Amino acid sequence: MTVTLRTGRLILDTPDRLDIDTILELCQDPEIHRWVPLPWPYERSNAEFFVESYVQHGLVSGTYETWAMRTSVDRAMIGAIELRRDEAERSASLGCWLGKPSRGRSYVKEAAQAVIEYGMGPDGPAYTRLCWEGLVGNEASRSIATSLGFVIEPDSGRTFDFRGESRPSWLGVLVAPGRGRQT
Ligand SMILES: CC(C)(COP(=O)(O)OP(=O)(O)OC[C@H]1O[C@@H](n2cnc3c(N)ncnc32)[C@H](O)[C@@H]1OP(=O)(O)O)[C@@H](O)C(=O)NCCC(=O)NCCS
Repeated sequence: MTVTLRTGRLILDTPDRLDIDTILELCQDPEIHRWVPLPWPYERSNAEFFVESYVQHGLVSGTYETWAMRTSVDRAMIGAIELRRDEAERSASLGCWLGKPSRGRSYVKEAAQAVIEYGMGPDGPAYTRLCWEGLVGNEASRSIATSLGFVIEPDSGRTFDFRGESRPSWLGVLVAPGRGRQT
């Protein structure tokens, strides 16, 4: 099970079979596929694979943790957030998507703050460096990253392999206090 995290308005816990219909519905939004390389078209089998295999594989292999973002009021799943270990030692990357009906309310910032505290905290994996990478043009994502303290690396012709295509990207870096330079 993914460790449960709580914020003022959200509960972050393990995506499960009861979420399949919601994930399927939310992941029809082209805006998600514009910025996140999920399978497209996104079909029921993709949502089933996500909750039945993908999430567990991350936990068992110890390579990533995936949370369902839920509103505390009704526990409805509104999005997903992931923390993935990088090749670099004590470093991990955040990734997320939020369903269209829940955007514009800073839910991702709130969820990401909780994941950062867990990821860098003594009771979690205690990463000393977190990364947030996005495609150039994803201003909402970049704005959240910077508001959380990620420092965007100077543009250095960085690219991200997106659906087999090399696309310009930016990288935000957050270093644990006392651990040196951001970039
Ligand atoms: C990116 C995403 C997670 C943001 O969702 P959200 O939490 O609702 O974000 P908000 O709409 O509250 O916007 C976050 C911030 O970006 C700003 N923003 C939004 N669109 C913007 C734009 N086009 N240009 C500049 N700033 C923008 C908002 O003003 C807000 O800033 P504030 O907190 O200072 O007010 C969501 O839109 C999403 O899931 N998109 C598709 C998938 C995706 O892009 N995932 C991230 C991949 S790196």
